[in-house]
Amino acid sequence: MDGKTRSTLSQVQGVPLPERIVKYWARVEKFQASKEDVLIATYPKAGTTWTQEVVDQILNEGDLEKTKRAPTQVRMPFIEMTSADGENAGITKLEVMDPPRVIKTHLPIQLVPQSFWEAGCKVIYMARNPKDTVVSYYHFDRMNLYQPEPGPWQEYLEKFMTCQLGWGSWYDHVKGYWRERNNKAILYIFFEDMKEDPVREVTRIAEFLGLQLSKCTIDHIVKMTTFSAMRENPMANYSTVPDTIFDRTASEFMRKGEVGDWKNHFSAQEDAVFEDHYHKLMADCPIPIRFTI
Ligand code: A3P
Repeated sequence: MDGKTRSTLSQVQGVPLPERIVKYWARVEKFQASKEDVLIATYPKAGTTWTQEVVDQILNEGDLEKTKRAPTQVRMPFIEMTSADGENAGITKLEVMDPPRVIKTHLPIQLVPQSFWEAGCKVIYMARNPKDTVVSYYHFDRMNLYQPEPGPWQEYLEKFMTCQLGWGSWYDHVKGYWRERNNKAILYIFFEDMKEDPVREVTRIAEFLGLQLSKCTIDHIVKMTTFSAMRENPMANYSTVPDTIFDRTASEFMRKGEVGDWKNHFSAQEDAVFEDHYHKLMADCPIPIRFTI
């Protein structure tokens, strides 16, 4: 790896994003959503792929022939993502798909294209506790050769806390969707809840999407979307992404899928500093985020 593909960050309205996304931002901003489209929004590494798989399974009532039709990134395009030349982009994939489309984004709420709100689209937001999120992001940046170089862990943690990583402030991200959840069609869910009681959470998501599924179908979907099932599913584990982008010698995409792995990474000192900072930043918007289950 010669480091040439690793992106630098630039900004849209003060939010740091990979440079290539900023370059093609205009077409993201003017994207026309349809009423039936569903947006899955997350801060990076909050369990996006997991939520995507659950939603696709729900919409297809657990039919594996249908959910295994293509890899995650083809079935549910990542709206703001683009190749450096702008050719291979979420937007171009979406333009040739008929609604209802399931669309992935990591954008903070203020950058979501206006048409999603005008059309009244349903939005599913998944939040994950920031300690597991930053650990997962760190390992992802080690293996994703299109992401900026992560550097040493201590510096990476500092960058997360000072909101310098791609997609910006985790704190503002979770708060932004939380504050709007009752004003807009937003279902706000937690990684930790899904891990603790997937039957309950998959049922909530299905009901939000207007589907009453049988207990048998829900159980089947839960089984097909466990960490181990998804890790073995080539249409859900990003194994189709070439090694020139994902360096699997550095880390796996489907890495651990646990709650509390942060305990293996944070020193006692880092944890104390993080806790203090976290409570200060979250004081104006208490969200029931759990660091263990
Ligand atoms: P870890 O790095 O902690 O293992 P995203 O899809 O937003 O990039 O998030 C990736 C994280 O979600 C990774 O976390 C990945 O292992 C985890 N994940 C993916 N599918 C999962 C599943 N079915 N159950 C639990 N965790 C899952």
